[in-house]
Amino acid sequence: MTISTVEHNRLRQSFEGMSSVWLFGYGSLIYKVDFPFLEQRPATIEGWARRFWQGSHDHRGTPDAPGRVVTLIRQPEAKCKGMAYRVSPEVFEHLDVREKNGYLRFSTPMAFEDGSSTDGLVYIATEDNAAFLGPASSAEIARQIANSAGPSGPNSDYLLNLAEALRALGDHDPHVFELESHLR
Ligand code: SIN
Repeated sequence: MTISTVEHNRLRQSFEGMSSVWLFGYGSLIYKVDFPFLEQRPATIEGWARRFWQGSHDHRGTPDAPGRVVTLIRQPEAKCKGMAYRVSPEVFEHLDVREKNGYLRFSTPMAFEDGSSTDGLVYIATEDNAAFLGPASSAEIARQIANSAGPSGPNSDYLLNLAEALRALGDHDPHVFELESHLR
């Protein structure tokens, strides 16, 4: 499967007159920081739950055997902890390519640990994208992750690195930690 959201994302927000933009990362953007940033702060967004429901045909799987990576699912009571980065707008040229397999940029408020907040962007792969896989049992998701690999490496590294990064952030995400224990 080849889908690409690069062109869609380019048209979604105008960065005119902006010298920097806050980006909220909740998956690999927490632990694989292959882009320059001006500032980095742990942050939380409300109303979204992190789920391994997005297929990865380009990074942690292949078109024939997709892996599973995280996206955000609307859940009114949920809070999702992650890492926010203040980046210059040009950084999105790189990020849009990295996140091209179904992710679109959405505006979101994000809260920092000192109680302050700001608006920024977050990449979300919505349920209507062609690479969306949706829910499955934890055992099934963990099995798929254990058996997948792609150009960015084993899918299991994605899960284990994310669990480690969340632990370092002091987060307890039951979905991620349950998958981690299945995998181990
Ligand atoms: C994110 O990390 O914020 C988006 C999903 C990913 O790249 O793993």
